[in-house]
Amino acid sequence: GSQYDFVVVSNRLPVDRVTDDDGSSTWRRSPGGLVSAMAPVMASNDGAWVGWSGGADEHLDPFDHDVFHLVPVPLSAQEVERFYEGFSNATLWPLYHDVIAPPEFHRTWWNAYKEVNRRFAEAAAATAADSATVWVQDYQLQLVPRMLRQLRPDLTIGFFDHIPFPPLEIFAQLPWRRSVLEGLTGADLVGFQRPGDAQNFMRCVRRYMGVNFRHGQAVVGPEVTSTAFTQPDPAVDPDKPAADTPEETASSAEDAGSWTLKVASYPISIDVEAIRSMAAKPETRKRAEEIRRELGNPDTVFLGVDRLDYTKGIVHRIKAYGELLEDGSLEVGQDVLIQVASPSRERVDSYKLLREQVEGTVGRLNGQFDTMEHTAIRYLHHGYPFAEMVALYLATDIMLVTSLRDGMNLVAKEYVAAKHDGSGALVLSEFTGAAEQLKQAILVNPHDIDELKELIMYAKNMPEDQGRRRMRAMRRQVLTHDVNDWQHKFLTDLAGLRGDGDDPH
Ligand code: G6P
Repeated sequence: GSQYDFVVVSNRLPVDRVTDDDGSSTWRRSPGGLVSAMAPVMASNDGAWVGWSGGADEHLDPFDHDVFHLVPVPLSAQEVERFYEGFSNATLWPLYHDVIAPPEFHRTWWNAYKEVNRRFAEAAAATAADSATVWVQDYQLQLVPRMLRQLRPDLTIGFFDHIPFPPLEIFAQLPWRRSVLEGLTGADLVGFQRPGDAQNFMRCVRRYMGVNFRHGQAVVGPEVTSTAFTQPDPAVDPDKPAADTPEETASSAEDAGSWTLKVASYPISIDVEAIRSMAAKPETRKRAEEIRRELGNPDTVFLGVDRLDYTKGIVHRIKAYGELLEDGSLEVGQDVLIQVASPSRERVDSYKLLREQVEGTVGRLNGQFDTMEHTAIRYLHHGYPFAEMVALYLATDIMLVTSLRDGMNLVAKEYVAAKHDGSGALVLSEFTGAAEQLKQAILVNPHDIDELKELIMYAKNMPEDQGRRRMRAMRRQVLTHDVNDWQHKFLTDLAGLRGDGDDPH
């Protein structure tokens, strides 16, 4: 039945499967800001969540788990390969992250992407009540907004892109660029992490769809891609409105069937309360002290926490750290780097290659610098429970976030929120969305290994009052902009676009 007033659609459902000792399996709420931000909205509305369980060839009926009504979308083993590992994570992911790894373009992957997006759209259409609000998440589902609008023109549709949106010059490589833009422009509101991502997107829409924006808004119709744009038209300058479309028409009245599309940035954040209360627990603090003891009470604990992904600049970070050991600026025993690299997308080639590079580099450096007593780099290739991560943040002096490109990077914000005593330092790549909010971090270009080394040492030797000043300013930022504010701002803007729509919170 179609009875849900508020529907979230994301590739993954907000639950993970846990297998008990007796072999039976249950579900547990996934960690992470998006899920905790949506929980109260789900609870106070008739909310549902459409997504994939993470398994192949698994057909599950809709079910309830804590505050969530879950609507599983099945993927076949071949779709996991072509839609998830293929088009989502070996085409779009590298393309949208500045082609750090070469994107692969395969028509079979694209066909699977369309097919799976259609299935998500159909599931959402079958779940949403009359005039409901549907919020579609992230790059795996960019075709869903328009497919959904075609199925259910009564719905209010939002889309949020959690990863960067690339510059036109890179997006242009995608053979199906126009279809992707048509998919996204089916929404009422398309949100991005940074203003720069929104700009990139609007340039692409102007260039490949001939649609002009004014103050982040445009009128879009059901008729996609006028024939003038079926071929790239060199006459369309993405930075200027098309000659036959005076700028004013962009915000003029809608024809029947057309709607106003808004494009804006909404930098995501974290569940500040969850981190703060975990950091405040005596057990967490005790565990942090224990971690330092287990490491042999070093002077300085450095920490990196990432999914094992080539966008994170893990090799750059380790290389810089290794050179500092080499030139004697850092010393094994006195200094230690903990690198948590949680396994991710392990069947995708670029991830296999990255793992070899990271493990090769760590192995060489540890072979060179370890002593019987101490290790240079503690490399941990597994995920950890939330409580252990917060203890690790508390035990850390200097957090290293060196992404080559990152939509936001929530680890940086989590670290800042966890440091309740105002200690600690954050070395942060300027190529993260977070750098636009955490301006008092020690900002670095991770490609510049000399600068990275210099700033790692700067963080280590920074006068205490300067360190505290920086952390205080960053904490103020994070503590006043949590993921609930993010969610609220997006949904308020979305409700405002369809004056009649109910505000779902
Ligand atoms: C990024 C993406 C998410 C994705 C997550 C984990 O944060 O923006 O959409 O869910 O990585 O990746 P995975 O492929 O395991 O879902």
